Amino acid sequence: MALQLKTFENINELYDFAAQFLQQKVKDGAKTFGLATGGTMQPLYKNLRQSDVDFSSCTSFNLDEYIGLPITHPESYFTYMQKELFEQKPFHKSYLPNGLAEDAELEAQHYNELLAKHPIDVQLLGVGENGHIGFNEPGTAFSEKTHVVTLTESTRQANARFFDSIDEVPTKAITMGIDNILQAKEVLVIAVGEKKRAALESLLQGEATVDSPITALQQHANVLVLTDLNISLA
Ligand code: GLP
Repeated sequence: MALQLKTFENINELYDFAAQFLQQKVKDGAKTFGLATGGTMQPLYKNLRQSDVDFSSCTSFNLDEYIGLPITHPESYFTYMQKELFEQKPFHKSYLPNGLAEDAELEAQHYNELLAKHPIDVQLLGVGENGHIGFNEPGTAFSEKTHVVTLTESTRQANARFFDSIDEVPTKAITMGIDNILQAKEVLVIAVGEKKRAALESLLQGEATVDSPITALQQHANVLVLTDLNISLA
């Protein structure tokens, strides 16, 4: 079956499972990992930091990056990844979109070309409350490749908790497109907490619609969803 669901009553078990899942993928020969940021991934990266996983022969591609944040800004996804994972578990090569590129459109195109050369074996994915994946906001065509986005007010509000004030949350980002995500051989989705219920319901129980970008995964051949929510596949 294309879409599989695994529910956990115990959140620690969910993250143990996810960490072991990724470690097993490395052992099985996966070379290229698509990585995600956000609060959801922090316990997973902590778990991986404490494990004996070795990513040193692997390549990583992050989903997205804010436009305009200095690279040293604590909330840039570059800094997030250094702190949460790369400093302790380095990859052979790690790519993130450059949110400080002079020409963001060109940077998106460049990132897309890199992705075309490095097919992703395993894509890790969180989800926004409005169903966004990466920073693909509602309304994004499923055929979209890496592109520049204007963040919705709801996404900026949701991410404001990481900044001193909402005014500091960038208004734009570069994100892998939904098509790039669909090209990954396998996708591991993690959605925890009641705030993600509507987004998860749209994926598991609804119709594919651009109104909820995560529903694009219904078209993918190999998706595993991990959640702590009491929810079932339609
Ligand atoms: C962020 C990121 C996404 C992430 C999502 C959920 O804005 N761009 O990649 O999956 O929103 O974030 P969190 O895990 O903090 O709820």
